Amino acid sequence: MAKLLVTGGAGFIGSHTCLALLEAGFSLVVIDDFSNSSPEALKRVSTLARLQLPERLQIIEGDIRNSEDLDKAFLLNNELVEAVIHFAGLKAVEESIRNPLSYWDVNVNGTCCLLEAMRRNRCRTIVFSSSATLYGNSERVPIPETSLIEPLNPYANTKAAVETLLADVSASETGWRIASLRYFNPVGAHPSGLIGEAPNGIPNNLFPYLTQVAIGRRKDMEVFGGDWPTIDGSNIRDYIHVMDLAEGHCAALKVLRDEEPQLLTVNLGSGRGYSVLEVLRTFEKESGIKVPFKIGKRRAGDIPSSIADPNLAMERLSWKTKRTLSEMCRDAWAWQQANPYGYSN
Ligand code: UD1
Repeated sequence: MAKLLVTGGAGFIGSHTCLALLEAGFSLVVIDDFSNSSPEALKRVSTLARLQLPERLQIIEGDIRNSEDLDKAFLLNNELVEAVIHFAGLKAVEESIRNPLSYWDVNVNGTCCLLEAMRRNRCRTIVFSSSATLYGNSERVPIPETSLIEPLNPYANTKAAVETLLADVSASETGWRIASLRYFNPVGAHPSGLIGEAPNGIPNNLFPYLTQVAIGRRKDMEVFGGDWPTIDGSNIRDYIHVMDLAEGHCAALKVLRDEEPQLLTVNLGSGRGYSVLEVLRTFEKESGIKVPFKIGKRRAGDIPSSIADPNLAMERLSWKTKRTLSEMCRDAWAWQQANPYGYSN
C-alpha cells in the first residue's frame, strides 16, 4: 500500500487523521518535533488501528526545517513517499502577535523546506492544513472559497502566505497535486476517548477550556462577549468533529491521487453555526455537568460569525460532515474524563 509522510502527525488533527489513513490501508511515516504534542498519541493511534508499532506507522522525531530529518523520513526503508499530509505548524493567534518571526519561520519557511525536500525526493502530492482564519471578518456568511482573503493576525498571514506559495509552486511546473483544506473549528475526539486534544498550559480554544472547567481543573468559563450582533449575543462558529475532518483529508487525498494534477482549495466545515451559549447548553446536556460561566468582554481580534459554505467540498470531494454538535460534546467529554491531564496522566 502507498506510503505517506505526515508532518505533525502526533498533534490533535494529525493523530486523528493518521488513524483514518491507517484504517484506509496506507503506510505512514510521521515526522513530529513533539513541541506541542506527545509520542503517546501515536502509540494510541496504533492501538486503535490494531497495529504493533512500527508496523505501518513509523515515527521520526525531527523538524521540518531540517533537510536531514526530512530526507531521513523520505528515504526510510527505501520506499517512495507518494504524498505528504502537512499538519506541522504553530497555531496560537495570541502567541503569533507576540512572536511573528517564529510563526513565519516554522509555518512558511518550514513549508518551503518541505516542498524542497519533496522535489528532491520526487514527491509532488501534498495536502495542506489551511484555516478559515484567512477569511478574516468575512462579509459573506456562509463563506465560499471565493471570498476575499483578509488575514487579521500573523498566524493567519502565515496560512495565507503558504497558500500563495503552494499556488506558485503548482504553476511553476506540471505534475503537482495540491490541496489546501481550510478548516473551520475542529473539536471533539475519537469516540473511544483514547485520543483527543491535549493543549499545553491554559487552553486558548473554547472546547478544551470548557472540558477543563467541567472536570474541575479550572474554576469557570468566560464567554467572550455578550453583545455581538447574533441570536443570543455570543459569537457563532462552525464546529466540525475532528473525525469528520480526518475523513475530509482522506477524501481530498483520494481526489488528488485519482484525478489529473491540480491545485484544489476547499473549506472543511459543516455549514451550520452555533453560538458559544448553544455550545455550553449542549455540553451540559451531554455531560450532565453544570458549567459555571460568566459573560465577559469581547476577545480582541474575534469576529461575530464564521460559517463555511460547504458546497464545494461536497461537489469536489464528495464529502460532508456527519457528526452532530452533541457528538462533538460527548466525545470531547469522554476524552477529558479518561485523560484529565491529556497524555501526561
Ligand atoms: C481560533 C483562532 C483561529 C484558529 C483556531 C484554531 C482566534 C481569534 N482565532 O478560532 O485563528 O484557526 O482558533 O483552532 O484566536 N470562546 C469563549 N471563551 C473561551 C474560549 C473561546 O467564549 O474561553 C469563544 C470565542 O470567542 C469564539 C468561540 O468560543 O467565539 C470559539 O473560540 P476558539 O475555540 O478560540 O476558536 P476561534 O476563535 O474561532
